[in-house]
Amino acid sequence: MKRPEIIRRAAAMRAISLKARARGKKIAFVPTMGYLHDGHLSLVRLARKYGDLVVASIFVNPAQFGPNEDLARYPRDFKNDLKKLGSAGADYLFFPSPEEIYPPGYQTYIEVQGLSRGLCGNFRPGHFRGVATVVAKLFNIVLPDVAVFGEKDYQQLRVIQQMAKDLNFPVRVIGGKTVREKDGLAMSSRNVYLSEEERRKALALSRALFMAQEMVEQGENDAQRLIESARELIGADPEAKIEYLEVRDAQTLEPVAKIDRPCRMILAVWQGKTRLIDNVRLNPKKPRG
Ligand code: PAJ
Repeated sequence: MKRPEIIRRAAAMRAISLKARARGKKIAFVPTMGYLHDGHLSLVRLARKYGDLVVASIFVNPAQFGPNEDLARYPRDFKNDLKKLGSAGADYLFFPSPEEIYPPGYQTYIEVQGLSRGLCGNFRPGHFRGVATVVAKLFNIVLPDVAVFGEKDYQQLRVIQQMAKDLNFPVRVIGGKTVREKDGLAMSSRNVYLSEEERRKALALSRALFMAQEMVEQGENDAQRLIESARELIGADPEAKIEYLEVRDAQTLEPVAKIDRPCRMILAVWQGKTRLIDNVRLNPKKPRG
């Protein structure tokens, strides 16, 4: 089976992309932090539809981890990642060292102000600054026409779309649907941290989100009532700690009172020492007829 070619240096990656572009090839890009699962691979497959050349990256970006977060223990499995990328159809893997991305003396950061505030931004100060910065750098190295991000990290997707727009990156930023385990749990590299019991209890997150979707389907459009019902379901487990659970406008991520436009229910919940995030779309019910 084909394996992607591994490129470690920014200059080499850029040279490959420039050459491909000169030949009229479209480049589609999927940035990741590795420890890949079917969620990541679905983005690679989606990228194949947009690009003649598919580039993935693996870089555990220190700039987006807080001082008390899991940078040092973030899971890694390079060999398996490479196999999986090959089977999903990636042509190149950009795999830089931390020094390649942040050489000594590095001092430039990007802040997407509005969309980075609230939700995860409240609890992970500097996180989206780190994400926006590394993604801007990766865009300048990989020179993609299209970049694919997962809806699983919905605020991140919106932050990157806004950054690309505000900074005139000639990159179309596309969202891929959240891939879930059979029982509903959103796939995440961090799910390996969960004990068996925590894994079972973590199901309450997707259940609560699907219940909210069902309630909207049945005609409920009051955001507060949806939030209360979802909180109640998750709160039935006294050990689940809800960091936030909100209904937001799908575009601006501003709070909403009514589901009268495309919205998202978004949450972050601690299950033991593991922080899980998830979200679903809540669309206004179409009038009959
Ligand atoms: P990482 O968590 O590795 O995720 C890489 C990409 O996979 C992101 O776009 C994320 O939204 C997507 N993804 C994760 N789980 C998914 C799932 N279950 N279904 C669909 N897509 C999923 O997100 C990051 O890395 C980093 O912040 C990064 C963007 C690479 C910048 O460092």
